[in-house]
Parts: sequence; C-alpha cells; structure tokens
Amino acid sequence: MKVILFGATGMVGQGVLRECLLDGEVESVLAIVRSGTGRRHAKLQELVHENFFDFSALGSRLSGYDACFFCLGVSSAGMTEADYQRVTYDITLAAAKTLVERNPAMTFIYVSGAGTDGTERGRTMWARVKGRTENALLELPFQGVYMFRPAFIQPRDGITSKTRSYRVLYALFGPVFPALRTLFPRYVTTTEEVGRAMLEVAKHGESKAVLENQDIIALGRHRVRE
Ligand SMILES: NC(=O)c1ccc[n+]([C@@H]2O[C@H](COP(=O)([O-])OP(=O)(O)OC[C@H]3O[C@@H](n4cnc5c(N)ncnc54)[C@H](OP(=O)(O)O)[C@@H]3O)[C@@H](O)[C@H]2O)c1
Repeated sequence: MKVILFGATGMVGQGVLRECLLDGEVESVLAIVRSGTGRRHAKLQELVHENFFDFSALGSRLSGYDACFFCLGVSSAGMTEADYQRVTYDITLAAAKTLVERNPAMTFIYVSGAGTDGTERGRTMWARVKGRTENALLELPFQGVYMFRPAFIQPRDGITSKTRSYRVLYALFGPVFPALRTLFPRYVTTTEEVGRAMLEVAKHGESKAVLENQDIIALGRHRVRE
C-alpha cells in the first residue's frame, strides 16, 4: 500500500506515520509538509510544499497512491470562523480534490473530532466547520472516504503536539491517562490506536463512513501487526 500523509509533523500525524512505517503492508509514505519531520526511514519520502491551498503544481507526484491519511488541522481557539474555515475546509478540500482526480481508487481518511456537527447549523463554531468539511469530503468520488472522530487522544511513543496549550494539557493529564481510559473507555484513545485503525480501514474498508471514538478504539485494538 502506498500512502500520502498530511500533518506528519503534528501529534496525530506523528502517530499515524509511526504505525505506517511499522506496517509490513505499507510500501511507502509520502508526507506533504511545510517543513521536515526530522525522521529518516527507507519507506518515508517528504515533499516540502508552500501553498497548501493549491496542490496543482505537484502534478504527477501525487498519482499512484492507495490511501491518504489527512491529519492536518488546527485548534479553533482565538480564530474567527472565516479563518478557521480557511485552514480546516479550504486546505482539506484543495488536497482532496487534487488527490481524487489523480487517484480515483484511493481511500481518503480525514481526522475531524468527537462532537463534529454534521448538520453544519449548531452553535459551536469548530464543530460546524468540521461538519461542513466532512460533508464536502463525503461527496467526493473516492473509492472509500471516511471521517475519524477521535475524542481525547493520548500521545504515545514520545509523540508531542505542535499546539502549546495541548502540550500543557497532556503534561498535566499524562499521569492520569491510564485511569481516564479505565473510567471513560469511550472517550480516550491513543495515537497508536488512531494510526492502526486508519491502516485497518484503508486495507479492508468499513461499513460506516463516520467513525466515532469507540469505533477507532475497536479497530485500533484488533489489528494484528504483520
Ligand atoms: N490532539 C487531539 O487530542 C485531537 C483529538 C481529536 C481531533 N484532533 C484533530 O486532529 C487534527 C490534528 O491534530 P493534532 O493534535 O495532531 O495537531 P498538532 O499537533 O497541532 O499538528 C497540526 C498539524 O497540522 C499542520 N498544519 C497546521 N496548520 C497548517 C497550515 N496552515 N498549513 C499546513 N499545515 C498545517 C501542522 O504542520 P506544521 O508542523 O507545519 O505546523 C501539523 O502537522 C486536528 O484537526 C485536530 O482537531 C486532535
């Protein structure tokens, strides 16, 4: 399987990259980044790109892939709806539209988040924008298109968030994560489970297009590493 990864420098993307590199069925990973991941691996190639609103210049370099794991995203804290939509919706759709033209047999997986508002009309700004993004992606003619809605993700394997406020939060919650997972098993997952679940869906498909936190946990736990 040949994979394209967005957000490889972020917390979720680092976890997904790690699982891809460990997986015997993944032949190669192309990470589309603004700046390098700092990782070196025989299966990993990085493509540094400046304009994430337009991928047309990358031409045939984006052809011939089986899956795209789209883990790029920002916190909406302090952002207007227009600014948040520009990063969340515009970048994601620019990438997805370019990829579907070049790879109609691709499986595309987007990381949105628990509480995403599919009606696009609710009161929470980030949830409306993520809902709008999910709905637009679901219309695209990929072979498979899936929305991942994780809740609270525990970073594993030394992985850290790019977002400072999240790093502080994770440092505070780190010691109690095991207890949180026991008390609230439906609401806590890990970077490892998210990555494994994506690989599972890319390889075997899934009956539901929208996967909530408990679906991600189940898929991530049951995958047997090759
Ligand atoms: N962390 C969680 O617990 C959690 C839970 C549920 C859902 N999510 C969702 O998962 C997604 C990723 O979250 P995360 O925790 O991995 O975030 P993160 O650690 O802050 O990483 C964000 C990633 O997005 C990239 N990015 C941000 N703005 C960009 C832009 N304008 N152009 C190009 N790349 C950009 C960053 O690249 P640079 O390195 O170039 O900045 C980085 O790779 C988000 O949509 C988030 O809402 C996260």
